[in-house]
Amino acid sequence: MSDYPLLNRQLDALLDTRDWLTNTAQTSAFLMQQIPDLNWAGFYLQRTPRVLSLGPFQGKPACHPIPFDKGVCGAAARDGETQRVDDVHAVADHIACDSESRSELVVPIHAPDGSLWGVLDLDSPRPGRFSEADQAGIESLVATFRANSDLNGV
Ligand code: SME
Repeated sequence: MSDYPLLNRQLDALLDTRDWLTNTAQTSAFLMQQIPDLNWAGFYLQRTPRVLSLGPFQGKPACHPIPFDKGVCGAAARDGETQRVDDVHAVADHIACDSESRSELVVPIHAPDGSLWGVLDLDSPRPGRFSEADQAGIESLVATFRANSDLNGV
């Protein structure tokens, strides 16, 4: 498994601005490079109420827009809870952007006022790629991204 404490220190050092645009670009590139077995890593942002707009990412061109009532990303945005899917084929509501994706982890990101700012979406070609420990590790990386970024607007 990845050394998440080390990855947190590296990400914290990498994010040397408070600009969310620069930091989402850097974070998606960092995750794609450092986390094994990913085919997509990126951000969706709430720029219109209850709609997720595609933000900076690494991987194939992806679905846009995603309303809050659709897909795994929509569920994370709607419920404000991380969605960990071992087999995307078993989820009727899953939106297939890249047919290679078999498992998925989506972490909601909240603005300082508690509103939903966006989500981080990771896709893997390997079923069951994300364990509970990976979920906790990725959530800690999202906390590092939040601590380094000004999320008052988007
Ligand atoms: N699979 C996601 C859509 C986003 S892509 O995977 C990049 C979903 O069901 O919400």
